[in-house]
Amino acid sequence: MCGIIGYIGDKEAQPILIQGLKRLEYRGYDSAGIAVIDKGKIDVFKCKGRIANLEEKIKFSKIHGNVGIAHTRWATHGEPSDINAHPHLNQKGNIAVVHNGIIENYLELRKKLAEKGYTFLSETDTEVIPSLIDYYYNGDLKEAVLTALKELKGSFALAIMSKDNPDEIIAVRRDSPLVIGIGKGENFIASDITAVINWTKDVIIIENSEVAVVKKDSLQLMDFDGNLIEREPFEVTWNVGESQKGGYEHFMLKEISEQPKALKDTISPRIDESGNIKLDEFPTNFDNVNKIYIIACGTAYHAGLVGKNLIEKYAKIPVSVDIASEFRYNNPFIDKNTFMIIISQSGETADTLAALRLGRKKGAKILSICNVVGSSIPRESDYCVYTWAGPEIAVASTKAYTTQVAVLAMISLYIGKLRKTISDDEYTKVLNEIKSFPQKAESVLKMESEIESISSYIVNQKDVFYIGRSIDYYVAMEGSLKLKEISYIHSEAIAAGELKHGTLALVEDGVPVIALATQNRLFDKTLSNIKEVKARGGYVIAIAKKGNKEIEKEADVVLYIPEIIDELTAPLSGILLQLLAYYAAKKKGCDIDKPRNLAKSVTVE
Ligand code: F6R
Repeated sequence: MCGIIGYIGDKEAQPILIQGLKRLEYRGYDSAGIAVIDKGKIDVFKCKGRIANLEEKIKFSKIHGNVGIAHTRWATHGEPSDINAHPHLNQKGNIAVVHNGIIENYLELRKKLAEKGYTFLSETDTEVIPSLIDYYYNGDLKEAVLTALKELKGSFALAIMSKDNPDEIIAVRRDSPLVIGIGKGENFIASDITAVINWTKDVIIIENSEVAVVKKDSLQLMDFDGNLIEREPFEVTWNVGESQKGGYEHFMLKEISEQPKALKDTISPRIDESGNIKLDEFPTNFDNVNKIYIIACGTAYHAGLVGKNLIEKYAKIPVSVDIASEFRYNNPFIDKNTFMIIISQSGETADTLAALRLGRKKGAKILSICNVVGSSIPRESDYCVYTWAGPEIAVASTKAYTTQVAVLAMISLYIGKLRKTISDDEYTKVLNEIKSFPQKAESVLKMESEIESISSYIVNQKDVFYIGRSIDYYVAMEGSLKLKEISYIHSEAIAAGELKHGTLALVEDGVPVIALATQNRLFDKTLSNIKEVKARGGYVIAIAKKGNKEIEKEADVVLYIPEIIDELTAPLSGILLQLLAYYAAKKKGCDIDKPRNLAKSVTVE
């Protein structure tokens, strides 16, 4: 949440900063700004709204300078406005700061600085930082930053520059992510790798509680006490094309369409020559594990629910799935025999990371399922199985979800084999089905125009209900989240059997109910629920497995996913519901890749 980019080198900074901001816009998009050092002064341009507004604002400005920092904001303290947009300067205008995160003690610091004569223009927590640094500044920017850091409480990533030290930018990380892109005679600072891969593939991750002094041809890393740290850059394997729209109207549609490849890239490298699962990243002994917690937020949480079903079925270990922001505030039973699976696309979600740290403190072993290599969650885990989905830029998660489910399915078989809780025949049968994900995902994508036309029915509706049982219910939750976040149509997912315990009261003439009926063993029961809906005048859009003709007698329309075992329907019905949400949002004219009030990477609790 909030994106930071910085440049120092011999080129004009402004176009690089704007291009970097565009790559980071998915992290926050309620205001944006840039600051560039030009002939002994700092020029700042910032405004409310998207990067496009900023570009419009600076169109006729002559911005020169080879050192600059920029920011795209997701508001926490202070409404989105020109004044609250970053970068922020101290009143003398000699120090500029961009910030991602929250300064918890900013009111206290503001009071202290005001008593010393500092004044403030914005309502933000960030604005205290340049003044605090200025207060300690004695010609050495790094020293002033290190001293100021001792007083800052909260989580933050910062990029700081001073007009009096124009050959350096200081980058600081505590909890919020920050990377350095290493170029030739130039260096870049960014909130994530996608913002720098256009210019360099060599990246250094700034670890927690570290400071980087970035010059155009050198980099010094240190801890908050100034002790130097050595770290080699690593080479990023993503290419630029993967983080561009590539002819698609939206990143979301591109990412939905990439799922066959994402699934293949995630599954294939984990199959050995004899056709079995090899998870080199995984523990080989599960004898002492008596409980598994799966922790995640949002879409990743929904993938975790499917994972519970699979692990309990094939590995026969009890699994609890918790929402990360709730987990810590309840009373989880964690000890050294607990195994925690942490799921996160970005690897930076603050609540998920906090749950991981709690588990670690209490002695649990931690495995993460993550999409962003080098992000905080895998780095703080004992083991990590990466989803090789490639960069996910649209705020609404799609390919991360299906690949997370694929990894969870493989993990469930892998543990089942280790614990001998699954027969060889069943293992082979289920694994063959997992291997068929890419090709079956392709078949679902071929239904695009059919799904597009069915989406017309829900575009003008006030409420949409999703129902299902077992895995269908978990997929219903994900489908409902997709619809509401990108189309702003209110929707709810209900366990089909729960309908008559309350929500059925809302079903009347024409109300759309999306009924997932892909679970053979529960089909009759779900069919009864569909009849309950029809009896109240609801309009049923059913999702069933190919060949199921019976459902056509009850539902208004049926969309078919390819035949697959009940346990593994989630990626296929998941893709179908992603497309349904996408086309409903498109017909409503919504800003699909950047839904209002949201941001891709939620690095505040
Ligand atoms: C919804 C969505 C979010 C994320 C959630 C967790 O489409 O994308 O619900 O799934 O914010 O994010 P990660 O997986 O990055 O931890």
